[in-house]
Amino acid sequence: MRTPVIAGNWKLFKTIGEAVSMVNDLKPLVAATQGVEIIVAPAFTALSRVADELAGSGILLAAQDCYWEEEGAFTGEVAPKMLKDAGCSHVIIGHSERRQYFGETDATVNKKAKAAIKAGLTAIVCVGETLTEREADETFAVLETQLLGGLEGLVPEAFSKVIIAYEPVWAIGTGKTASETQAQEVHAFIRSLMARCFGQGNAESMRILYGGSVKPDNVKGLMAQPDIDGALVGGASLQAASFAAIANFAG
Ligand code: PGA
Repeated sequence: MRTPVIAGNWKLFKTIGEAVSMVNDLKPLVAATQGVEIIVAPAFTALSRVADELAGSGILLAAQDCYWEEEGAFTGEVAPKMLKDAGCSHVIIGHSERRQYFGETDATVNKKAKAAIKAGLTAIVCVGETLTEREADETFAVLETQLLGGLEGLVPEAFSKVIIAYEPVWAIGTGKTASETQAQEVHAFIRSLMARCFGQGNAESMRILYGGSVKPDNVKGLMAQPDIDGALVGGASLQAASFAAIANFAG
């Protein structure tokens, strides 16, 4: 059985004060939630403070990116071990916004994923096709390239520290969710690809999250799909009530 994961990606939102007040609103709303891993991903500046606030709550902390070097002359970058030190257990890698605006490639995703895992973090590796690629029937080919490139060279033992997030670019922040059937079809494809490349056991235990306009009113249907193991939530993760409603999808 795969434990579902509901992760909130706060992107470039929330000061430290706003982040602290958000998690304090969230904690009571998910205090009784069982069998779901709940993760929040604030901006770097708020991580350490939010980690203090989350202590004992069971809610986990993720960063939204990391660099692949452990230290050195790399102005502006943050190393995985620094994230660990700030209280993170997870890091989002290769979000489509980073690929689109900040030149992230499958090769950099791969270096970051390996560095994150080496530092003891779980890597939430994001993949997804654009609308043009979907319309050209290239979805599976694009995902295969992203996944094989992003996960290249990972040893089988590392796979327990990988979560995949399938986020069709056309569904992010647009209010346009992939239908349950569309999402399930892709998730099943990803799992079969994982089985082919990294073994059946790794594929069966790997959590594959869906992301792209997940809201309280569509999460249940998505989570009912056999290969959808959770959600990476953007907009609806910014308010405690809507994020809690998503985390409480089973209730
Ligand atoms: P959204 O973002 O829920 O606002 O569509 C999802 C994401 O970018 O992870």
